[in-house]
Amino acid sequence: MALRPLERLSTRARFALAQGARVGWYGTQSVMSSRLVSRWEKEVPEEDRKRAQTDRPVPNRGALLEDVRDLMRRDLANVEAGLYPMPRDEQGGLSGAIERARLYFDDLPQVVRRRHTKSHRELDEAVAPRPDYYQQNFHFQTDGWMSEHSARLYDTQVETLFLGAAAAMRRQALVPIARELATRDQRGCSFVDVACGTGSFLRTVNRAFPRLTTVGVELSEAYAVHARHTIGRRPRTGTIVADAEGLPLADASVDFATAIYLFHELPPEVRTRVARELARAIAPGGLFVFVDSLQFGDRPTHDGLLELFPQLFHEPYYRNYLVADLEAVFRDAGFAVEASETAFLSKVTTFRRLPAL
Ligand SMILES: C[S@@+](CC[C@H](N)C(=O)[O-])C[C@H]1O[C@@H](n2cnc3c(N)ncnc32)[C@H](O)[C@@H]1O
Repeated sequence: MALRPLERLSTRARFALAQGARVGWYGTQSVMSSRLVSRWEKEVPEEDRKRAQTDRPVPNRGALLEDVRDLMRRDLANVEAGLYPMPRDEQGGLSGAIERARLYFDDLPQVVRRRHTKSHRELDEAVAPRPDYYQQNFHFQTDGWMSEHSARLYDTQVETLFLGAAAAMRRQALVPIARELATRDQRGCSFVDVACGTGSFLRTVNRAFPRLTTVGVELSEAYAVHARHTIGRRPRTGTIVADAEGLPLADASVDFATAIYLFHELPPEVRTRVARELARAIAPGGLFVFVDSLQFGDRPTHDGLLELFPQLFHEPYYRNYLVADLEAVFRDAGFAVEASETAFLSKVTTFRRLPAL
């Protein structure tokens, strides 16, 4: 429904204030952390220093902020078009944000140390068995994905990396789902967020489509517990600790699925198995919305940034991801590509599950 002029003005003002504050908050943390990291790196002996290098183009901070503005304009247009509600940050207000920033900055020296000593297997032995590829300090973060401490600082780490635009990039996955739900009854539909992490996108889905039955699947028990806290107690939603290679979901039982920032963290053979598993669980005609990093060539002006990323953050499968033919992986699993577009440093691809032959 079209907004009246005053309503539109108020929507735009609230959006600009909230998203401007968000980008300012995380952008400031990004600048502060870059400065701190450069200072600490001067103390690393020259021969041990790992310099990140690329010959490909790297956009400067001004260009990245212009990208963020473009994304926010798109996000606002989606809100104004009624595709999803005004975004809301619900993570404990200012004191919660300050506490998370403290955790993030406390962990930063460890991240830098791991990067320069190439340490990416510093995990607590008490962690329950998980696939070997998974048992690493992704992002050089303390405990990898496997502790409550890691879950508490994850969102700040990701938002700082993306200058406060991570949630807006994820929200672009709501668009194809909203369009589809315009002609369907939410009450008869189900949604799964595979590798739901700390649950921030699942909470967004629950706000946008409150009658949908939703579930988050997550391999990290600590993150699944955190996600449960994020989504709160409400009917028709929850999280399950499980491996995306063996989703605890019946065949053809899902109408909508997402996997956000999962595939770049998977070895190639696991990507194929997870794609097949998604195809098994999603009903013919159902949608899978993929949101993940850009790949080489998606935005050639940003290719250098993609090449630098795994040098700065531990991402063992990312180089392969950058050149992988992902559409072929999903086509082979039984999906057809419906649409693909970039959103700042991510791409959002919508796949439709084809009927079995
Ligand atoms: C980069 S995080 C992305 C989390 C979340 N989707 C987001 O948007 O921030 C990757 C997540 O994938 C989870 N993960 C990795 N491999 C998995 C697997 N095989 N099955 C389920 N979750 C997995 C990790 O535990 C982690 O929470």
